[in-house]
Amino acid sequence: MQHVLCLAPKGTHNIDMGYGLSAFTFCRAATVNPVVGSQVWVEDSQVAWIDGEVLEVKEGEIKVRCTSGKTVVVKPSSVYHKDTEAPPCGVDDMTKLAYLHEPGVLDNLRSRYDINEIYTYTGNILIAVNPFIKLPHLYDSHMMAQYKGAGFGELSPHPFAVADAAYRLMINEGISQSILVSGESGAGKTESTKLLMRYLAYMGGRANNAAEGRTVEQKVLESNPVLEAFGNAKTVRNNNSSRFGKFVEIQFDQSGRISGAAIRTYLLERSRVCQVSDPERNYHCFYMLCAAPPEDIQKYKLGNPREFHYLNQSNCFELEGVDELKEYRDTRRAMDVVGISSEEQEAIFRVVAAVLHLGNIEFTKGKEVDSSVPKDEKSWFHLHTAAELFMCDAKALEDSLCKRVIVTRDETITKWLDPESAALSRDALAKIVYTRLFDWLVDKINNSIGQDPDSKSLIGVLDIYGFESFKTNRVDLIE
Ligand SMILES: Nc1ncnc2c1ncn2[C@@H]1O[C@H](COP(=O)(O)OP(=O)(O)O)[C@@H](O)[C@H]1O
Ligand SMILES: [Mg+2]
Repeated sequence: MQHVLCLAPKGTHNIDMGYGLSAFTFCRAATVNPVVGSQVWVEDSQVAWIDGEVLEVKEGEIKVRCTSGKTVVVKPSSVYHKDTEAPPCGVDDMTKLAYLHEPGVLDNLRSRYDINEIYTYTGNILIAVNPFIKLPHLYDSHMMAQYKGAGFGELSPHPFAVADAAYRLMINEGISQSILVSGESGAGKTESTKLLMRYLAYMGGRANNAAEGRTVEQKVLESNPVLEAFGNAKTVRNNNSSRFGKFVEIQFDQSGRISGAAIRTYLLERSRVCQVSDPERNYHCFYMLCAAPPEDIQKYKLGNPREFHYLNQSNCFELEGVDELKEYRDTRRAMDVVGISSEEQEAIFRVVAAVLHLGNIEFTKGKEVDSSVPKDEKSWFHLHTAAELFMCDAKALEDSLCKRVIVTRDETITKWLDPESAALSRDALAKIVYTRLFDWLVDKINNSIGQDPDSKSLIGVLDIYGFESFKTNRVDLIE
């Protein structure tokens, strides 16, 4: 198994590795009796670690003058030796560091990051620090050609080297491989995954034969925009955060050519469909559809996203530099490419629009005790529109929201729901419909890509769900 660990820098100095650093086992007892004049690292609330010189050593206390100018008194156990001979541009493999402790690792990553070296090895683990700027020269076909067949560690650290190692292990040993991509949300997992896939497609791809249509690898790469439209959203950390886990399995034939692929997704964050907090957004597809051309807007009875309860719980509607109409068109085109027919696309967007209308149905008390009915004209309008779009009976939809049917061994009991419970059942319906839609899309994409039942070996790439590390983490991913 190969491992790519992604990290996101915060500010200019502080590379946050709260989640990611769990991959390292640090030697806590790295510091052995610092003496006056020793160069050390001490913890700092602003920049994580700061370097300085020991001025005084007393029983249980060390006085250090930091390079920032301030003097601090700390416990001996909390200071770490600084390697004064470390090269200023850092080392490309952490195992070359004289001291493998947290400040040493962070300082090495920062030194490299400052000169746009975003990749570093720790043995065979690749650490990627998100550059937040485009570095196209790093990923062009010339680069892929260089990594082809080069020994691991021979060239600069790179995701292509990781993919190449996995490919060659699979070919030479005949054993299936997997590449795990982990890290906090926004750290660059999905981008790294795409690079790994690109390289595998480059190594195992076939020359594009126009008569055969698109190749497996093209379809896998082209499925990204479709999955992202329905499964990605803006979060605090990342404007295009995947809210689902993804395991892509690339199947190879005997001669090492790609012969099939399967995409498995899991844990779509379904609570987001009806609950969004500022400054995040719901799934991209909702905003795209609200910006669709007038004929579509009319068809789906949509309009300003600010009018929809599932979207206006947050004040964020637009994304900088994103043209939603263009996104809508691009998504439609990407759907064409992965083999989703225009009738199916119609049906997909009907469901997306219906979910928005569903969210605008409000309830008030009905005639019966603890019963509920749609609140007003507006709510009735949204109920009827949702039913029309779902192509179901409006009365049946109303009943499904306002009543609960309990089936016992002897009888079927229908119970009214009060307005709050009706709103909860509305949200539950929205979430389940949306999740089913997402799962259907994944199935559809898989059918279009095609699997190879005879494949003997595969390379799996896992883009693990990116957790956001906050002071308090919400546990609402699985419900
Ligand atoms: N290698 C990279 N080069 C340039 N930009 C990157 C790179 N990796 C990540 N980014 C930027 O960071 C953003 C978040 O990355 P993403 O892969 O979506 O994070 P994650 O999947 O870990 O949540 C991307 O939208 C992109 O702007
Ligand atoms: Mg992602």
